[in-house]
Amino acid sequence: MCGIVGYSGRRPAAPLLFAGLQKLEYRGYDSAGIALLAPDGIHLEKNAGRDGVMALEVLGGKIDRLPAAAIAGIGHTRWATHGRPTDINAHPHLDASGEFAVVHNGIIENYLPLRERLRAAGYVFRSETDSEVAAHLLASHYSGDLAAALRGVLAEIEGSFALVVMSARHPGQLAAARRNAPLIVGAGAEGEFFIASDIPAVLKETRDIYVLEDGEMVVVADGSVSFTDFAGNPRLKTITKVTWDAVAAEKAGYEHFMLKEIDEQPQALRDTLSGRAAKAGTIDLGIGADFFAGVSRVAFVGCGTAYHAGLVGRELLERWARLPAETAVASEFRYRQPLLDEHTLVVAVSQSGETADTLAALREAKKEGARVLAVTNVVGSTAAREADETLFTWAGPEIAVASTKAYTTQLEIMALLAMFLAKERGQLPAERVAALLEEMRTLPAKIEDILARRERLRELALPLSRTADAFFIGRGLDWAVALEGALKLKEISYIHAEAYAAGELKHGALALVTEETPVIVLATQQALYEKTLSNVEEVKARNGRVLAVVRPDNKELAAAADDTFLLPQISDELAPIAAIVPLQLIAYYTAVRRGNHVDKPRNLAKTVTTE
Ligand code: G6P
Repeated sequence: MCGIVGYSGRRPAAPLLFAGLQKLEYRGYDSAGIALLAPDGIHLEKNAGRDGVMALEVLGGKIDRLPAAAIAGIGHTRWATHGRPTDINAHPHLDASGEFAVVHNGIIENYLPLRERLRAAGYVFRSETDSEVAAHLLASHYSGDLAAALRGVLAEIEGSFALVVMSARHPGQLAAARRNAPLIVGAGAEGEFFIASDIPAVLKETRDIYVLEDGEMVVVADGSVSFTDFAGNPRLKTITKVTWDAVAAEKAGYEHFMLKEIDEQPQALRDTLSGRAAKAGTIDLGIGADFFAGVSRVAFVGCGTAYHAGLVGRELLERWARLPAETAVASEFRYRQPLLDEHTLVVAVSQSGETADTLAALREAKKEGARVLAVTNVVGSTAAREADETLFTWAGPEIAVASTKAYTTQLEIMALLAMFLAKERGQLPAERVAALLEEMRTLPAKIEDILARRERLRELALPLSRTADAFFIGRGLDWAVALEGALKLKEISYIHAEAYAAGELKHGALALVTEETPVIVLATQQALYEKTLSNVEEVKARNGRVLAVVRPDNKELAAAADDTFLLPQISDELAPIAAIVPLQLIAYYTAVRRGNHVDKPRNLAKTVTTE
């Protein structure tokens, strides 16, 4: 999840590239760089942030070091995945000769074997990134034709990418390709072209856009543009006139970042799984098994949504790995003098990696000698730096205060971690792990199916927008998801929403249920289905209005409910990753209907650095 911009034309490239990067800062901002094509070769400036100054601002201070006359170049603003946010890991990356430069957005899944092969052949790597392999590969495939060399690279790399490359041997030429990462070409005045990951980067200069599809490549040079597939067969493309204003363009035409981020979940899940689950059923967390050796207890800590992800983590870990586990709210955990020792693994879950209470819990755990694993979305965050080990969610920047794609990717990490430990402890047969991993690969498509039915969810949200209170109920993992669903509704619609373990409702809260009260029931857990059905009957007997989020085979429950939303068929343990999505959309549409500030709800902050 980075921002890319390229330019080839007649005007000085540096200020145009820099202005484009400024518009893309929301896509990632831990480091930034620009490479320019000048008659004497490629000139490069790139850096991370410094002493509290943002990376792009630092870069801005160095722009005049770049050749002012250069009229082609590429720029990048980074959201780190592979490799910390440092100057060296910043893009663009050059090959060893300095004649080829690349910027990359996405994840090259097979970069490790490629890097080994290239190293053995004498290529010297400078950075820790997956992207650098593309620069060396490009040089290795080059024999006079830049586009052909890029095709050679594309034939070798796996994963997701938007890639823009250039070479000192081809002044004015840029070549680019995409697979599962956005890329557009902007056609400016008098034969100038922009290549960018997102429309906002070029909007000031042009509204004439070609949108690349997966598997397409583009070459711009000397005032002309040509599109092909990866094999070099020509593709005919037409210009789209963009009518959005700049603010809408940042949100890729969405009204709110939250909806954009909800829609990004399939890709975020693909990215987070990428490189971690091999076809053969092996899991590679990038952490040696010895880190987990001798762990006899696990404590998940976090705040808000991250705490809810930890609840799922606890349940999966106990169920699969048969390892005692607990989940605690970080602000409680840190003060309760928890029993910790070197056999305890503390998993600190935090999207930002900067939440004060979570960091305090992490430090308390370290002080007491526990091992600490961070699960975070931000490379270089305090949690990532202070933990013994880190598992990153690769969801990309999350801007809306209400967390969506960070949560589902945290759940994916929880499942991978639990499976990994279950395998290590001999608690889950290899075939079962292989089947679960296979199912995880199908999750993005299942979520796309839910997203495609958003109109139904918008209808279902209608009665909610007029209510003062709502209950969310479920058992087991459904209860954990109910808590997150209720939080979403509270945060952005300001409706009082409470989640209950379905079996607990009758011990108090049922007194509040009337015909005015919507009760949202989650029923994805097969073993608990009959019990949940009885709880629905209890609500119906009090005239409560039931909206059931169920699997297609839960016919009785669907019949008992007033409204239903059908989830795709999915196994119990992975169901939370899909089951939350309709609840996110229901909360979203309810908040929109109530006219609330969806992305910045009142009284709340995205990252809470106070205790
Ligand atoms: C704030 C945000 C929540 C988030 C929580 C934890 O309250 O509004 O959306 O879940 O902090 O944030 P973290 O960055 O630690 O996951």
